[in-house]
Amino acid sequence: MIVKNQEDVEKLKEIGGIVASCLKVMQEETKAGMSAWDLDQIAKTYLGDHGAKSAPIHCYDFPGQTCISINHQVAHGIPKKDTIIKEGDLINIDVSALKNGYYGDTGGSFQLSPQNPQISKLLSATKAALQAAMNAARANQPINAIGKAIEDTAKFHGYTLIRNLGSHGIGKTLHDEPKFIAGYYDSKDLRQLKENMVITIEPFLSTGATFVDDEGDGWTLVTSPRFRTAQFENTMIIQKEAPPIITTIAK
Ligand code: CO
Ligand code: CO
Repeated sequence: MIVKNQEDVEKLKEIGGIVASCLKVMQEETKAGMSAWDLDQIAKTYLGDHGAKSAPIHCYDFPGQTCISINHQVAHGIPKKDTIIKEGDLINIDVSALKNGYYGDTGGSFQLSPQNPQISKLLSATKAALQAAMNAARANQPINAIGKAIEDTAKFHGYTLIRNLGSHGIGKTLHDEPKFIAGYYDSKDLRQLKENMVITIEPFLSTGATFVDDEGDGWTLVTSPRFRTAQFENTMIIQKEAPPIITTIAK
């Protein structure tokens, strides 16, 4: 969507703060031995207490409040009761929700101790890719500047990109215009970023994978088990200067 007035900004900030805080609480509460379902219940309580609804449930009838993807699972993982979180797991939680008709979307990968230094490097590079893409995302610039920044960062750090997952417009729907924003440099994408456009940026950097496939449950997107992939996601309002991030924890 394109933000039209202060009310749009305030409502986006409200839901953005809720999803960001929900993600933070979930990350802090994640412990080995709990199930992905237990972890998802934290979101159920948090979102409910803050008057927000899970977007995956509302929009797609997803079987969980949030997407919890572990190890070679990359995205859209179902928070199942029989998925037990283990020490050293690489976990991605993606929280998207709506309140008063406005959507916020955030996500983050982290590893439980003992920390694997290879995974720590992947996490830092993926964060750097998100920052580089945010630095490139300016009004009146090409949309493919986002993918270029992500691709350059991934290459610099020696990682591959998941090509069939991307960033997207958001606002009064979860997946709004502009649709699929590639996480790589797509020279054929001639779209421009417009002032006050609301988008997510969510790079997926990997130790070797370039595509995700459906695991077979209709939702979970995976790579070969030998690869690990990380994602960080923010929602923001595009400006001529640095974009205000919507998915930040309210102070
Ligand atoms: Co998301
Ligand atoms: Co998203």
